Amino acid sequence: MAPKITVIGTGYLGATHAAAMAELGFEVLGLDVVPEKIEMLAAGRVPMYEPGLEELLRKHVAGHEGSTGRLRFTTSYAEAGEFGDIHFVCVNTPQKHGEYACDMSYVDSAFESLAPHLTRPALVVGKSTVPVGSAERLAARLAELAPVGSDAELAWNPEFLREGFAVRDTLHPDRIVVGVAGERAEKQLREVYAAPIGEGSPFVVTDFPTAELVKTSANSFLATKISFINAMAEVCEAGEGDVVKLAEAIGHDERIGKKYLRAGIGFGGGCLPKDIRAFMARAGELGADQALTFLREVDSINMRSRARMVELAREAVGDSFLGKRVAVLGAAFKPDSDDVRDSPALNVAGQIHLQGGQVTIYDPKGMENARRLFPTLGYAPTALDAARGADVVLHLTEWQEFRELDPAALGEVVAQRRMLDGRNALDPERWREAGWTYRALGRPRA
Ligand code: UGA
Repeated sequence: MAPKITVIGTGYLGATHAAAMAELGFEVLGLDVVPEKIEMLAAGRVPMYEPGLEELLRKHVAGHEGSTGRLRFTTSYAEAGEFGDIHFVCVNTPQKHGEYACDMSYVDSAFESLAPHLTRPALVVGKSTVPVGSAERLAARLAELAPVGSDAELAWNPEFLREGFAVRDTLHPDRIVVGVAGERAEKQLREVYAAPIGEGSPFVVTDFPTAELVKTSANSFLATKISFINAMAEVCEAGEGDVVKLAEAIGHDERIGKKYLRAGIGFGGGCLPKDIRAFMARAGELGADQALTFLREVDSINMRSRARMVELAREAVGDSFLGKRVAVLGAAFKPDSDDVRDSPALNVAGQIHLQGGQVTIYDPKGMENARRLFPTLGYAPTALDAARGADVVLHLTEWQEFRELDPAALGEVVAQRRMLDGRNALDPERWREAGWTYRALGRPRA
């Protein structure tokens, strides 16, 4: 009989994983400790913007008309323990307040709450991003707390989904990595992922520490690639080169590749920034801090890109923001998401506001979250409204909608036709032809 699955924690990762498991044909019970989240999900609504997720949820959530009924939600660990054969732990691991290290309290509390309800053999699968060494510690804790003892097994199965592509990445992963301590866990996970494995997704079996390290090293590599191109942008600016052409040219080398070489205001979000910091902190604890000192530079280059954007904007409006109106296009940390956690766009907007600029922001999906985080900034219902009377327009999140803006129409409402592209995603020629001065990080002025 097919195993029954629970998913603990229903944020981006958990909500998507639960719906995807139901799509693969399993009976699924999602658990969260926040009752409002569970109420929303049970009603077929997703508490964040993620393309395709709400449709997938409604296709499976019990009680929804025409659904398969394979997906249900609860706030009860007792129910989860009773229901599941395989339990996926998908809670978040944010940065600790005032420290680089990762806050493991949600993971720890999920294990402490679930384990006492494991009265028959079960596999607990960690998906959260954790410091190396956590799985070994949690496996021991699990066996200690579970009534079934060592028949409560652990596996570590990091997740590589990107926000904005979460459904696709979960159903068709480019690789599946499982850290296991025994063959039984591997066999069970091969069964769970039979569909993607059948489609050709590589299935990589490792020990616990390697599985944990795969995740943090993958995110560190991505962060390094972005900071590399942003460092090249700084040099291009100094030497009057063009970083977009440079990225195109080096990207033709297959060993380098074209992806993740878009220069601009850098990376943000709930993952890359905190993951590289937690990785440095953990390496320090293990006495391997020298190996990761380069990540400190990756972090500084990234933060410097935001500061350079602010400088560029200040220069554009005559060296002081006082009395100047600044339109900001974009608030989410990346397009196709409403996530504003550590968003470079909002960070730039906030810095300009603090320096006396009158900032008005528009984002297709991130407005509500942005307003909650930065209630003192100005918000407008459309890009055109945000740009009205602006002395400079900043393009900070590369939504398709912004690429499709009509430079002539926007030019009618601004005070000055000055476009600063913080994502190197607009077509300079289109804007210049419509009478705008167009500037971007790492590109020639003219
Ligand atoms: C990232 C990883 O890409 C996922 O594989 C991983 O599973 C996830 O973190 C996680 O750990 O949960 P995500 O945070 O959704 O996914 O965002 P990315 O698409 O990686 O983008 C991160 C940031 O880098 C964004 O702010 C984006 O604007 C920026 N970026 C990306 C650039 O500045 N330049 C680029 O060329 C690419």
